[in-house]
Amino acid sequence: MSQQLGGQQILILKEGSSRTRGRDAQGMNINAAKAVANAVRTTLGPKGMDKMLVDTIGDVVITNDGVTILKEMDIEHPAAKMMVEVAKTQDDEVGDGTTTAVVIAGELLKKAEDLLEQDVHPTIIAAGYRQAAEKAQELLKEIAIDVKATDKAMLKKIAETAMTGKGAEATKDELCELVVKAVTMVADEDGTVDIDNIKVEKKSGGSVDDSEIVEGVLVDKERVHPSMPKKVTNAKILLLNAAVEFKKTEVDAEINITSPDQLQAFLDEEERMVKNIVDKIIASGANVLFCQKGIDDIAQHYLAKAGIFAARRVKKSDMEKLARATGGSLVSSIDSITKDELGKAGLVEERKVSGEEMTFVEKCKNPKAVSIIVRGGTEHVVDELERAIHDALRVVGVVFEDHKVVAGGGAPETELSLRLREYGATVGGRAQLAIEAFAAALEIIPRTLAENAGLDPIDMLVEIRAAHEKGKKTFGLDVYAGKAADMLKAGVVEPLRVKTQALSSAAEAAVMILRIDDVIASSKAPAGPEGGMPPGGMGGMGGMPPGGMGDY
Ligand SMILES: Nc1ncnc2c1ncn2[C@@H]1O[C@H](COP(=O)(O)OP(=O)(O)OP(=O)(O)O)[C@@H](O)[C@H]1O
Ligand SMILES: [Mg+2]
Repeated sequence: MSQQLGGQQILILKEGSSRTRGRDAQGMNINAAKAVANAVRTTLGPKGMDKMLVDTIGDVVITNDGVTILKEMDIEHPAAKMMVEVAKTQDDEVGDGTTTAVVIAGELLKKAEDLLEQDVHPTIIAAGYRQAAEKAQELLKEIAIDVKATDKAMLKKIAETAMTGKGAEATKDELCELVVKAVTMVADEDGTVDIDNIKVEKKSGGSVDDSEIVEGVLVDKERVHPSMPKKVTNAKILLLNAAVEFKKTEVDAEINITSPDQLQAFLDEEERMVKNIVDKIIASGANVLFCQKGIDDIAQHYLAKAGIFAARRVKKSDMEKLARATGGSLVSSIDSITKDELGKAGLVEERKVSGEEMTFVEKCKNPKAVSIIVRGGTEHVVDELERAIHDALRVVGVVFEDHKVVAGGGAPETELSLRLREYGATVGGRAQLAIEAFAAALEIIPRTLAENAGLDPIDMLVEIRAAHEKGKKTFGLDVYAGKAADMLKAGVVEPLRVKTQALSSAAEAAVMILRIDDVIASSKAPAGPEGGMPPGGMGGMGGMPPGGMGDY
């Protein structure tokens, strides 16, 4: 690429690099971002559809979850990737509302496009959007409703709203009970909730009704040897991160064996070394062993003889959960086990769940360790149920901490839209145009909810808006009855944080994309995790800063 300077061409970039500037660059980025929003739009709300995603090796994921869809889609375009970041940030911060955040970001850009067409400068739009986003946060806090963490009925409604549309319709009631119970069990006295204390274990087979809650950690493994005890009380648990087997030499070594005696000696030596390891495990005082790596046959034999319960190839995430629950540490060398590295549990037992053996670690040192066993007809069903439960656990946890909720069904978006328009009028000037565009963009939520439910979006919007103009702040779309209704009465409630976070990340992403007027892409983008990200142009902008609006 080249620049003209006094008739002379100056080359500043490598040959083959491409550069797009001004309105073209903006148009390109906006279109890519809108495409991402459109991809997830049809999944929004209780009547939203699902997507089937098939990866390169043919694995199928069927989901309604915004962030899962975007993570599974192999998105290349740098601006589109920024939208994926919006969903990821939303998921990290609150666990739900990922579709909402992306859809709002897409609509903000669409409205910005209209303004660009009217020759409003992008910096004016960006500034107006920032101003509107800040005001929106304020307004959201005003319309938030206080709830108590002890209000179980309310917590259940929050879980239900998060689960709607995610394949849990028939058994939502039971699952939500489980979710609220689990969160209540792991909550600290000061009200904080660490969802990492809740392990969700999937098991296909049986029906969703068979899902249950276990006080403790559930590991999807059975003991390695049938003569090991099935049940250990007062368990002292060793969490081992190393293999219990004969160490093979790192370098290729050739061992010449010329007589049967030598062979026997060699095998004896191998056995002696393994026994030595097992002896060290016994000496540590452990009566239960969870090993992240393998345990070979000889070791299994000696462990069984010593009456130790052992499971091998335990997942890393399970090892971490076990460490938290039992108060033990992950030990990576057998030579240096100390007593206080062992974890404790009242009971370790192997029991059958849908015909398969699983290990239950109960009465743990940390009483806040809880597991939920999710059951369901097929693997795809349990996978989607697990995602629904994840969302529900997160939102209930968030309300436990914040004590603030808003009505759902497009109610807060409609209210904000009206109030922001009023606010825009007080600001005046060109900023007013941007604030009004922001206000109009928020209506995409009730509109999409209506569209996805097969209702007329304009009629519905007019109806909801009319209710809000009469001061009915919690009126949203009753998708089943096809009319405006009080969402609070209907039990459609969401944590305040879902909305504040969705708005701030959506606005941030939109502003960031709007402010780009130059895309410089190297000819050969390096392959790898960053894919097609042009290193010079946008590399540093891919990640969204979580939290509030930055300075632009
Ligand atoms: N029973 C209901 N009636 C009307 N609206 C509802 C109902 N249940 C949920 N909603 C609304 O649906 C929207 C949420 O839809 P959905 O769960 O599909 O997307 P999301 O939460 O934005 O993203 P995701 O769950 O994929 O992370 C919210 O606006 C919520 O208020
Ligand atoms: Mg949701």
